[in-house]
Amino acid sequence: MKNKFILGIETSCDDTSVAIVSREGRVAEHVKISQNELSNQYGGIYPEFASRAHILNIIPSIDSVVKSSGIDVKDEIIAIGVTRGPGLIGSLMIGTNTAAVIGDMWNKPVIGVNHLRGHLKSIELEGGKILYPAIVLLVSGGHTFICIVDELGNIHYLGQTRDDSLGEAYDKLGKMLNLPFPAGPKIDQKALKGNPSIHFPSPLLKNGLDFSFSGLKSAVSRYLDSSPTINENDVCASFVKSVLNVLDDKIRRAIFENPSIKSLAIVGGVAASKQVRELGNEICSDYGIMLNLPPIKWATDNGAMIALAAWDYLERGKIIPPFPIARIPIDQY
Ligand code: KG4
Ligand code: ZN
Repeated sequence: MKNKFILGIETSCDDTSVAIVSREGRVAEHVKISQNELSNQYGGIYPEFASRAHILNIIPSIDSVVKSSGIDVKDEIIAIGVTRGPGLIGSLMIGTNTAAVIGDMWNKPVIGVNHLRGHLKSIELEGGKILYPAIVLLVSGGHTFICIVDELGNIHYLGQTRDDSLGEAYDKLGKMLNLPFPAGPKIDQKALKGNPSIHFPSPLLKNGLDFSFSGLKSAVSRYLDSSPTINENDVCASFVKSVLNVLDDKIRRAIFENPSIKSLAIVGGVAASKQVRELGNEICSDYGIMLNLPPIKWATDNGAMIALAAWDYLERGKIIPPFPIARIPIDQY
């Protein structure tokens, strides 16, 4: 019997990514073309240029994964999954339109996938498993929220950011320190070398399950403007300490308020952070629950998580048309 795969396409933001994934989450082939160099010239993502880069990169990316996987498209690829949102509308249009055309050419169904559900599935790539019901913390460049997910796939929001996402806070600090975009990994490295000696606020601490990160960003900005000498490593360490205080407080509160949960999942680009992963570990060993993390490689945006989410959609009969949509919550398909 032939293997079966789904081709996943992700173009919600600045990276073009395509992957071929089996039902079990085995990634047969994957490519990601980052636009970091382009974004660096503008100190962040410039949506129109991101769309133009997707136009140049998308067909070569599909071509490359198909060729190097050696997979027989006709017999082995059963569907195409593509991010339909949330994201930058121009970038989404390139991915969804391309998927629609390729689906027509190959005569395969095309499934529009919610990017946030893709992040959730990233845990199950290459052998991982989520134990339900789970508290899920999603921390990315575009989103920050905490929700509860049950075994039937029902999702209920517990709290979300009132302003900046956590990834955005990292990237804004990176911009203030002239670090390359995206700044998360660099800030983590610097933080590990620094001393968290500066007091920055931990917004909305001990105050419900919503988040707020814009005040932290402003506090760091005021500190940088008013300090004659700056130790960047200490600034990063102090920033990360404030962030971890908030995450620790919110996760523990969510677990305390939902005692029936069996695991904690942390997903999204910031789940690549060593410090955030360690925090998850600590909390889960305190509560005796399982920790679900994506492999670091699959924490940031990628086509593999979209392909794996599309498998779920297919099995649930959710053949959502690939129309781009800029905003969509995780509790919708
Ligand atoms: O999930 P993602 O790739 O894109 C969105 O869906 O938004 O997340 C990107 C975000 C960026 O803000 C980036 O700075 C952050 O994830 N990030 C990290 C790390 N790697 C990426 N933040 C902290 N530590 C990291 N190692
Ligand atoms: Zn993402």
